[in-house]
This record gives sequence, structure tokens and C-alpha cells, in this order.
Amino acid sequence: MTDFKRTLITTALPYANGPIHIGHLAGVYVPADIYVRYLRLKNEDVIMIGGSDEHGVPITLKAKNEGVTPQDVVDKFHKIIKDSFQKFGISFDVYSRTSAKIHHETASEIFRKLYDTGKLIEKTTEQYFDEANNQFLADRYITGTCPKCGFERAYGDQCESCGTALSPTELINPVSMISGNAPVLKETKHWYMPLDQYEPWLREWILEGHKEWKPNVYGQVKSWIDGGLQPRAVTRDLDWGVPVPVEGTEGKVLYVWFDAPIGYISATKELTPNWELYWKDKETRLLHFIGKDNIVFHCIIFPSMLKAEGTYNLPDNVPANEFLNLEGDKISTSRNWAVWLHEYLDEFPGKEDVLKYVLTANAPETKDNDFTWKDFQARNNNELVAILGNFVNRALVLTQKYFGGKVPECGALTDTDKETLASISLIKAEVEKSLDSFRFREALKNAMDLARLGNKYLADEEPWKVIKTDEERVKTILNISLQITANLTICLEPFLPFSMEKLRGFINLEKLDWEKFGETNLLKAGHQLNTPELLFEKIEDDVIEKQVQKLLDTKKANELAQAKASPAKENIEYDDFSKMDIRVGTVIEAEKVAKTKKLLKLKIDTGIDQRTVVSGIAEYYEPEALIGKQVSILVNLAPKNLKGIESQGMILCAENADGSLSVVSPDKIVKNGAEVK
Ligand code: MF3
Ligand code: ZN
Repeated sequence: MTDFKRTLITTALPYANGPIHIGHLAGVYVPADIYVRYLRLKNEDVIMIGGSDEHGVPITLKAKNEGVTPQDVVDKFHKIIKDSFQKFGISFDVYSRTSAKIHHETASEIFRKLYDTGKLIEKTTEQYFDEANNQFLADRYITGTCPKCGFERAYGDQCESCGTALSPTELINPVSMISGNAPVLKETKHWYMPLDQYEPWLREWILEGHKEWKPNVYGQVKSWIDGGLQPRAVTRDLDWGVPVPVEGTEGKVLYVWFDAPIGYISATKELTPNWELYWKDKETRLLHFIGKDNIVFHCIIFPSMLKAEGTYNLPDNVPANEFLNLEGDKISTSRNWAVWLHEYLDEFPGKEDVLKYVLTANAPETKDNDFTWKDFQARNNNELVAILGNFVNRALVLTQKYFGGKVPECGALTDTDKETLASISLIKAEVEKSLDSFRFREALKNAMDLARLGNKYLADEEPWKVIKTDEERVKTILNISLQITANLTICLEPFLPFSMEKLRGFINLEKLDWEKFGETNLLKAGHQLNTPELLFEKIEDDVIEKQVQKLLDTKKANELAQAKASPAKENIEYDDFSKMDIRVGTVIEAEKVAKTKKLLKLKIDTGIDQRTVVSGIAEYYEPEALIGKQVSILVNLAPKNLKGIESQGMILCAENADGSLSVVSPDKIVKNGAEVK
């Protein structure tokens, strides 16, 4: 690599309006963490910056929907996110948040400097305003009919049905989501970054100067620039965010995408008084780890802001990833289509590295990729267990068995031995080459080649057979196997930090620098190993089926939520309603009606009497499950004979989109005979 002395790594600040899912991890945090751990092992000066993005309209909308303040929302999710990252072992040097005071100050200062030096342009435009609430409406606060596809609930910035990007004035019949009224157009003043002015410089700096950037990143930047850059508003009419630091701008805040990337700077200030060294020294390299939806902000807008400010470094690289899908569908927070990190950590304790491994092996580096639970299981069982775990276990168990766990002496080397030992350095070179160019899935594959090498060596040399005739030879074979094992603890440390710590415990070895990787005498003869345990365990089918079922349940819930309700019936008078005598009763007996599929015969204690009711719910309830349950029953329905049984009333049920029935029960225990009215 070139002539830098230190590296500043930033990771996209996740919005604090939901927890972290595997898409975030695969796209940003796992690769960044691998890279940082690698540089740390090389003793490089590196810091990794993270934090929560706590401003923006979606957070205010969520707060409104839940009847809490935006600060409540971000406090809750900041904690969930921060804790889950920490448990998962994403090794931030600082994890800050954009509602922090230091951030408000930093963002204000930078805005103010741009403002004072004439880098921003001021424009007055007409925007939608909600008169009932006396406020301007963010694009997301306006819905209406999409002019392209006719979808009736399109947002002011985008139609979620046809995907078209919109501006609020294009919506037909716009409605304020706050008051439900039609908004009016009203003049408002905002400040803009004149991105058009930066176009020649951006061409030069990125399109000419950074041809080495990943093709997906370079390509996206090029198409933005070629499409022509427009001035971009960097302020908004909103009451949540960093207030615009200019007199007479009450009710205006910095646009979330103006302040959020400055959060990287604020977090660095929080971390160290030496922050300027990381942001301004020419010998510092700046890297932004992000997902593809953030490319324009990190490659065009933020760099233009920094360029305008004038004293900051620009990114050296922006190794953005594509998206990870889940079982074939786009990950979505609102549709709950995700594997949530905090849930994974609860459900798979001690398996942090398994998820890291799978997300890296399957990382969406050059194209969108798919996470499936089957693949998760297969990679664990066929790679972590069968290759890495198996090799290490054989080396350790055999050493235990033949030599009491003491590293045996290495004798004369065969050609195979020499080749095997030489391969360690070759693998090191491959891993480095991949890591240095941000190809993490390839790097992991290269690193696993070291375990494959060990496995093949043991399989070829068969020490368990040789021991019968030539113990000296077995000493050499195991010595070499143990040297490979020791090298694995370095090689895989960036990818599988928890497991390598465990493995170092098994072989009683301290954490070694990357520099040592390739040495073939890391474990000296006579060194005592600890009693080995299993490094990884097989994941059984039932565990995977449970996760798949959870997703199927989500799918079903989403489909049901989408299903259209039938239109309301004609109005009735209260008298019509009050003719119905609906009571709560308890099921005291339940059995299937012979020769029918659908019918159950129930005995109900209605408080008035005990009576028999025949109900068509047999496909949805086991008779035993109903006994003791309170249900609602229409008691004055004329009795009716069903399959030879007199049914004295009707159990009330809600019918789902798929026709399935759910009995309607009171939400607390009430006395039998309680009237429903
Ligand atoms: N919160 C944004 C997102 O999740 C990312 C912000 S990155 C930063 O897409 F640079 F603005 F911090
Ligand atoms: Zn549309």
C-alpha cells in the first residue's frame, strides 16, 4: 500500500428507528470490522467510527404514530442497536449518536462556515403547508394519487407501488398525513449546495482520479454525474434535527443527510482530542463503509461539502456493497422481513461467528445476494464444522492422545512437509491481496484454504495409521499440523474473532500479530496444550425449520395485513343491534361431531344455563384446546338442528383472509353471562 500513516474508517450511521438486521451487517459492519481487525493485527494506526443517525422525517413519523417524542424513539433504538453491535463483536472505537451535543455543535459550525463563506445558495420556493397544524410538510408527510400508476397512497417523494421518484407537487389530490386535509402551497426559504458547480471537480477527482474504486461504486457515481447534478436543499422545515444556525430561521433544521455524515466527525471528536489528525492530516486515509443506497451521499454530496469547507480530507475509497436479500425477498423493516441481530443473538447464543462467516462468505460485494437459512446451515455444517473444526480437532485430539497434549518435536521434513509449510506463506499473500482490495468473501475463502490445507495434509499423511509403525514420523506430522493451527489463529482472527480466541485457549497461545502469520515454529516443541473442545457444532434441521417457520409466519401476517376488508354494510339503528343477546360463556365440553370435518359440539356455560352449540370451527381448533376458554355467544338465535344435534346459539368468530376462523374472546376473564354490547 501507499504512503499513509493512519486510517480512519467510518461505517454508515444506522437510523435509530429500528433494530439492526443482517442486511446492515453484510453490507457495512461485518466487512468494516474485518478490515479494522486486520489493520489492528498489523499494528496500524486505525480507528473505526460508528453511531446512530437520529434525525430525519421517518423518526418523527414513527414517534407520531406511537404517541411518543422523537427523542424517545431514538433513545430506545440507539440502545438496542449499540448493545447488539457490542454483543456481536463489531469493534467500534466509538459508537456515538447525532442527537449528542457535540454533534449539534459540529454540524452547526460546518454549516455556518459554508454559509459565511458564501458556499451555499439561498432560494425561496413554494412548498406544501398544512394550515390546520401550521407547518410545512416534509415530502413523506404527504400522500396522494401517483400520477404514473394511479396508486392512491403514494408518498410525496416516491410511489411505493410503481417505484417512481416523485415530488409532492406531482401527486394528484395531495393530503397531509398530519391533519388529513389538503395542503396549500406556501413560500419558504432554504439553503442549497450548488452541486452543479462541483461537477467538473467531481469528474476530475473521482472519474479520473479513482478508477480503482469498485465498479458498482464508480458506475453509480458516473451515472449521477453524467445525469447532471442539481443544487440540493440542505435545510428543511421540520422541528426535529439540528436547528439552522442563522438568525430568523425558527422551525428550520439541517437536512438529515447534511448532518448525518458530519456525525463521523463529531464521533471522532468524542473519541479523541486528536481528531484533527484523523480528518485533516494528509497522511491519513479515509474510508467510508456503506451500502449502495448511500453512494451518492458519500461520493458526491458529503465530499462536496468537505471540499467547500476546505480543511478536511476526502475519502480515499468507498467500498460500498450491494444489497442482501432474505429468502428471495427484499429485506424490509416495515414488513418485518429480516433476520434481526438482537433476536439472532438471543436465539443462537455463542454463534456470533457463524453469522459473521455466512454473511462474509455470501457478501453482496458485486451484486445483490440472498441469505437463506438452508445456506446458513450448510455453511456451518459443511465448512465451519467439517473443514475448520474438523482439522483443528483432529490435530489437537491426536496430540493429546499420542503425546499427552505436548507439542512434539519436528523431525526431518519430506517434500510434502516442505510444500505444506511453504503454502502457509502463499495463503497469507492471497489473503492480504484480497483484504487490501476490499474483497472480503474472497479473503475468507483464501483464509479457509489454510484449514483445507491442514485437512488435506492430515488425510494424506494419516498419522493414525503411521503411529503403529513410526512414532517419530507422527511427531513431525502433528508438529506441522499444530503450526498450521497456530497460523489459523492469526489468519482467521479478523473474520472469526470469538472462535479464534477460543482456539488460542485450546492451544494455550497468546494473540499474535499479523506479522507472525507464515512462521512455522509458532508453537515450540514441548509446549503444553489444553484439553481440546469442539470449536463449532453442527446445526440440526429442527433449528433451521424453526427459523424458516418464523419467516413463513411473517409472510402470512403480511399477506393478511394487505388483504382488503369487505366494504361496510348499510347503517342500522341501535335498536336493531340491541335485539341481539350476546354473552360471554366458558366452554366446558368440546368434541368433534362424528362424520363431519368442520363441526364441533360444544357445551357452554353461558351464566344463564348450560347449553349445546354446534360450531364450524373444527378445522381451526382441537376440541381440548377450547375447554376452559371464554367465547362470545349469540344466545337468542333461534335453535337449529345440525347433523341431528340441536344447536342453541352461535359462537362468534372472526374470519381471516384465507377463510380461517378465530373465536372472539374477551381480552380479560369476565363473569359468565356478561353481556357484549
Ligand atoms: N442513516 C442512513 C441510512 O441508514 C445512513 C447515514 S450514513 C451517514 O441509510 F453518513 F449519513 F452517516
Ligand atoms: Zn405509482
